Amino acid sequence: MKATKIKTLLKSSEIKKSFVVQGWVKTFRAKRFIALNDGSSLKNLQCIVDFENLEESLLKRITTGAALHLEGKLVESQGEGQKVELLVEKLEVLGDSDPEKYPIQPKKHSLEFLREKAHLRVRTTTFAAVMRIRSKLSFAVHNFFQEQGFYYVNTPIITGSDAEGAGEMFRVSTLDAKNPPLNEVGNPDYKQDFFGKETNLTVSGQLEAETYALGLGEVYTFGPTFRAENSNTTRHLAEFWMIEPEMAFYDLTDNMDLAEKFIRSVLKEILDNCFEDLEFLDDRLVKEDQSKPQAERSPMGLREKIKFVINNDFKRVSYTEAFEILRNSKQNKKKKFKFPVIQWGVDLQSEHERYLVESHFNCPVILYDYPANIKAFYMRRNEDNKTVRAMDILFPGIGEIVGGSQREERLEVLEKRIEEMNIDKKELWWYLDLRRFGTVPHSGFGLGFERLVQFTTGMSNIRDVIPFPRTPLNASF
Ligand code: 4AD
Ligand code: MG
Repeated sequence: MKATKIKTLLKSSEIKKSFVVQGWVKTFRAKRFIALNDGSSLKNLQCIVDFENLEESLLKRITTGAALHLEGKLVESQGEGQKVELLVEKLEVLGDSDPEKYPIQPKKHSLEFLREKAHLRVRTTTFAAVMRIRSKLSFAVHNFFQEQGFYYVNTPIITGSDAEGAGEMFRVSTLDAKNPPLNEVGNPDYKQDFFGKETNLTVSGQLEAETYALGLGEVYTFGPTFRAENSNTTRHLAEFWMIEPEMAFYDLTDNMDLAEKFIRSVLKEILDNCFEDLEFLDDRLVKEDQSKPQAERSPMGLREKIKFVINNDFKRVSYTEAFEILRNSKQNKKKKFKFPVIQWGVDLQSEHERYLVESHFNCPVILYDYPANIKAFYMRRNEDNKTVRAMDILFPGIGEIVGGSQREERLEVLEKRIEEMNIDKKELWWYLDLRRFGTVPHSGFGLGFERLVQFTTGMSNIRDVIPFPRTPLNASF
């Protein structure tokens, strides 16, 4: 008999029928009640071992963390808390678990402790809920774009161009690290490396996605991205997943409209389909909040926040307007910002973004038309010749969740910018070709998938929403 998922059994009305279940013991009480979980559901299946001839030696092997194969009859539950339970008739221990050594005990563990046990943490209710939502979100991302007629393109992970400038890169090389061949000036000679040039892990698939947008029309990437910044924050990973749609014939407004529609659509999918997991994470957040001082507590519950984003338009504000709001804020006047807002053109720090989103507007904000000097070379220059058609989406509790722009489609303007920024033009010959042969206005953005999972699950540290986080000094597992 094939095993039935616990999720299915908990909803089943096939009383008295026999079933097989397989999973891991969460708890075992009174030598009788096993709470079994197989990952399919937040809830455990209560399984009752109450048959003759069950040897004491077998009973001893039913410990927290052990893997079991059970066969029995589904019956209406006598106890509280569940509709049905399984009366076990046959029990097999598939994998023992030493209760003294198993780290995931049936008690509350700190998230920090569980990060050290990342190979087992998905056995906890919290991580299982987060990872189920992460999976659903990925699917919702593909679903949204596929339904809109976008094509999924896989851009390279190893890249030979370091022109994007989005962050520090990880070098990819097969040269002998101890004794690399050297060139005339005494540096490692990458001409002798695997690709005959210096290569790195990609920081973004955008430039390559642009080539596909200018042929397929509307495309998106969804893949791993690498940044070697030494930033130990709750919002940065060295390896994260990014979704990057890129669209021909879109201007910046079309780009913002798409981003809003996209975020709403995937959040709605989760709200509609992940009821139990969301309810659990919502309660978890409420409990966590209770241990915080009043001022730091969240004004909204998790589901309330998600609904708010689904039901309210994002506030669209130009950099210049935002700059004025910040400059004139009490916060700034009382010198409460670590980085005072004085000069138009400064890059906004996360304290400024938080002020705008969490204190001033109290809703997601799209900032657009940034000063050219704080943005990448490929963004389209505005008529004022000072700003570019950039847009960042800022979320409460998260900060920047999306970064995007309309792209510079005019060859001369783009070439001039590349020169001004001292970027090697030769490396970008293929990117410039797009402006030589059938150039069109086009736009795109990048959404950090883990930041979206953070928002949806209410997890405050980005390390807790990716199975195996990669951060400075941390690449175990
Ligand atoms: O703003 P970024 O750097 O934009 C780009 O890379 C563009 N090429 C995207 C595009 O237009 N196609 O990154 C985009 C998003 C950020 O808004 C943030 O959500 C996320 O990627 N992100 C990170 N997430 C986790 N850890 C990091 N170190 C991240 N850096 C950026
Ligand atoms: Mg950015």
